[in-house]
Amino acid sequence: MQGCDGSILLDGAESEKLAAPNLNSVRGYEVIDAIKADLEKACPGLVSCADVVALAAKYGVLLSGGPDYDVLLGRRDGLVANQTLANNNLPSPFDNITVIIQRFKDVGLNTTDVVILSGAHTIGRSRCVLFSGRLANFSAANSVDPTMDPALASSLQQLCRGGDGNQTAALDAGSADAFDNHYFKNLLAKKGLLSSDQGLVSSPDGAAATRALVQAYSYNSQRFLCDFGDAMVRMGNIAPLTGSAGQIRKKCSAAN
Ligand code: HEM
Repeated sequence: MQGCDGSILLDGAESEKLAAPNLNSVRGYEVIDAIKADLEKACPGLVSCADVVALAAKYGVLLSGGPDYDVLLGRRDGLVANQTLANNNLPSPFDNITVIIQRFKDVGLNTTDVVILSGAHTIGRSRCVLFSGRLANFSAANSVDPTMDPALASSLQQLCRGGDGNQTAALDAGSADAFDNHYFKNLLAKKGLLSSDQGLVSSPDGAAATRALVQAYSYNSQRFLCDFGDAMVRMGNIAPLTGSAGQIRKKCSAAN
């Protein structure tokens, strides 16, 4: 959680996997571990787990129809996880846009990066527990969040009703598996799933800081795809360990 050092992959009492923003949310650790095991057979001690994560993100984007961007490599792996930092510093879907912008700023990313990188929610899913507060008992005046399209709200109410909160819905309704700019079009149609998505357009601070960018990306798919690749490179450069700092782990779940 200090930067892109693969610390999220470490097991143990301090594990960032157990931090509230990650627990039951971050998936696919077994995929990273399997890639790393294959790599260690082919070329031992050469590719860090931090680089494996960056490459997996690149190919995930590419294979779902997104842009091809060059990933910088050479990160080394951290020796320790820090659950407290993971709990305190990761943006939450319940944060308002001003707070999310600040969280990004704290790691050297700007407001434009917030909008571009939120565009990653063009693929994937979220559990009901993270948006069901928008569907019932929302406020004294409105039982449902008025910034959510009523038809979307009623289909989500059906999906989430009676469950344990772990049912999942598409972050980008109607286009969950394609990496495109449909997410931004949905936000303009009040079809964002998380409050932190819809807030980019519908909240007062989002209207001031981010709405115009959402509109721009909703009109211009090429610009989104191109800017997304650049922003991923910037995010992947957050405090990497280089030189003789850290190590190349043999297994991603434990320091050597
Ligand atoms: C702006 C701040 C962000 C917030 C508040 C946020 C929040 C969330 C939440 C709550 C989920 C659902 C987790 C669950 O169901 O347990 C999610 C999923 C996801 N997020 Fe974000 N996120 C943010 C930024 C990002 C960024 C920067 C990326 C990548 C560039 C990203 C990529 C994803 C993807 C791909 C999923 C779907 C995962 C899956 O289907 O397994 N998010 N995010």
